[in-house]
Amino acid sequence: MLLHLQTWPEVETYLKRSTAIIVPIGSTEQHGPTGLIGTDAICGEAVGRKLGEVTGTLVAPTIAVGMAQHHLGFPGSMTLRPSTLIAVVKDNVESLARHGFTHFYFVNGHGGNVAPFSAAFSELYAESSLARPGNRPPIRCKLRNWYESAKVKAISRELYGDSEGSHATPSEVALTWAVYPQAVRKAKMEPEVAPRGEFTDAADYRRNFPDGRIGSNPNLASIEAGQRLWDAAVADLAEDLKAFVKLAAG
Ligand code: NI
Repeated sequence: MLLHLQTWPEVETYLKRSTAIIVPIGSTEQHGPTGLIGTDAICGEAVGRKLGEVTGTLVAPTIAVGMAQHHLGFPGSMTLRPSTLIAVVKDNVESLARHGFTHFYFVNGHGGNVAPFSAAFSELYAESSLARPGNRPPIRCKLRNWYESAKVKAISRELYGDSEGSHATPSEVALTWAVYPQAVRKAKMEPEVAPRGEFTDAADYRRNFPDGRIGSNPNLASIEAGQRLWDAAVADLAEDLKAFVKLAAG
């Protein structure tokens, strides 16, 4: 159930049954020599939308540009400043809260989003705390990284071990291939497994990780693995979402 394919009377009817909404979030940034620019948004959206199907939960439009300043050394990468992203998250949540949505479940595909989203949630809660009691509807926000669910991590470890890395990983590349089989592509990687390490800004990142990967070998990806990872993420998050909504309702 996708919000943008509903009419307003249908949303009004949904709100009588549930006040929860899933919001897929990602990033638009380089993912190594073979990974799609949209990898993180594609993954968040694919998992979020399937989660909406299996749990009967409405799914909001994907927030597809995230906080990815460190990737700007590579063509095609886009970023919002942390302060901009915080404002975007607040306005998205407040728009929906006005109609009665209370539980916001963000399915995330990008590590750089975690800190700004956490700050946005604190801003939203602060506004509730500072308002006169009863003047603002109670809201709850939760963010989950699809790639960190227990079942997903077990599969990544089994299939890729130390070649999983932390950026342009075979797991995330595999998931994009399961969604878009026409995206499959491989290239010679040098070194086969990319270096690991830290970074600050875009120039520092490009210096340390010349082809964009961190610690990974995306050539190990396959469509079959992507489908397994997709199903595993949805299974894990479905349990988590049910617990979150129940907690919220109680
Ligand atoms: Ni990614």
